[in-house]
Amino acid sequence: MSAQFVVAIDQGTTSSRCMVFDRGGRPVAVARLQHRQIFPRPGWVEHDAAEIWRNVVACLDEAVAAAGATRADVAAIGITNQRETIVVWDRATGEPVHPAIVWQDTRTDRVVAGLAAQGGQDRFRDRTGLPLATYFSAPKLRWIFDEYPETARRAVAGQVLVGTVDAWLIWKLTGHHVTDVTNAGRTMLMNLTTLGWDPHLLDAYGVPAEALPAIRPSSEVYGTSRGPLAGVPVAGALGDQHAALVGQACFDPGDAKCTYGTGSFLLLNTGDRPVRSEAGLITTVGYQLGAAPAVYALEGSIAVTGALIQWLRDNLGIVSRASEVDELAVTVPDTGGCVIVPAFSGLFAPHWRSDARGVIVGLTGFVTRAHLARAALEATAWQVREVTEAMTRDAGLALAGLRVDGGMTASDVLLQIQADVLDIPVTRPQVIETTCLGAAYAAGLAVGFWSGTDELRTHWHAERTWQPTLTAGERETGERRWRKAVARTLDWV
Ligand code: G3P
Repeated sequence: MSAQFVVAIDQGTTSSRCMVFDRGGRPVAVARLQHRQIFPRPGWVEHDAAEIWRNVVACLDEAVAAAGATRADVAAIGITNQRETIVVWDRATGEPVHPAIVWQDTRTDRVVAGLAAQGGQDRFRDRTGLPLATYFSAPKLRWIFDEYPETARRAVAGQVLVGTVDAWLIWKLTGHHVTDVTNAGRTMLMNLTTLGWDPHLLDAYGVPAEALPAIRPSSEVYGTSRGPLAGVPVAGALGDQHAALVGQACFDPGDAKCTYGTGSFLLLNTGDRPVRSEAGLITTVGYQLGAAPAVYALEGSIAVTGALIQWLRDNLGIVSRASEVDELAVTVPDTGGCVIVPAFSGLFAPHWRSDARGVIVGLTGFVTRAHLARAALEATAWQVREVTEAMTRDAGLALAGLRVDGGMTASDVLLQIQADVLDIPVTRPQVIETTCLGAAYAAGLAVGFWSGTDELRTHWHAERTWQPTLTAGERETGERRWRKAVARTLDWV
């Protein structure tokens, strides 16, 4: 009997998940494990890549068992992952030689400021589509090589390998040092036009080509697993936001989705040519399926949305479960005049200010934790509004609607606020695990499990749409207040 399932690994910022999908793109089983968030100093965020690998293996075993499947039932494995986070490991032992530096980490602000001093924040934008920021991988690598010259020497000798999390997992699974084009594009070392490592950028960051993985399309057989699910092809990889674009079947120019996780990321498919942003967005590869040309996207990256909910729970202790934020938020009609701007990692799109720091403004004795809970949801919605406005300026077209997904979209309250703030309908699909689904699609396409994107489109079904209910006046008042609060984050450091 032929294989009935495709398995996706989603290695995210706070947890790793594995999901098993059937031919209809329906989830059959899931397993999830959290890993430690390591904060050695203010602004630093690290992960243990060995712990991540152990969790991925455990999730794979658990999800496949829960689906009642054996490896013969699995056609392919796809990978999707937190982007930009950089892993450095020993080629011989297969062990990390440095903690993974996470995308949220701001320790490289001096590296970035130094580079920006010689040519401005956009000096690499034409080549990479990206502004200089602590967010991307190359400054993180530069920092490791500056601090640990022995690691730099061993990288030149090919004894130490580097890569984003997809490359780490593909290497652990198959023994091949490969990354996909969407992940490579987030390192700030890939040329957006040639889709290869750019010698000028490798030189500027001092990264040896010997240590880097080969860049491949997002959908292709990279090798076969020699560990869990031994013998099954590892056949797809995409950065998580790019995977969600595929999982939401955003295959036409003008299609857009927003994924709400630790951060939130809105991607607009712009077709087969990169569109340069003038409004503070990122130009990125959306996906590349096999031998077909790459499809590009404009992206609005927001660093902190779901992470703010976690912070309310873990650092302030004002809720004991994330879902309690919703329960509290519906008990009040508004935020009581307070606004939270969670600039914990500086501000990403469209501001790109690593020096911004979070604020809570408008506090009075009237404000309760219910108001703060509502303000946390509104902070997500207003940040998304900032990037949709930038998108309208760059693409010259206003979004008619938005497909949403990710863990936070379980919140009906958030999605009503989002529709109100954006003044467009917001639609949640039946499968909100679109990140995993996109990775499964990439892998399944590579092995012929699915015939093409037309078949994948037929899997997408709306579950519910939220319509805007605010008056223009109410929205403008909210926006003015949000802008004033954002201005307060910028003059702090
Ligand atoms: O660019 C960072 C992004 O890929 C992280 O996504 O879902 O782990 O917050 P997530």
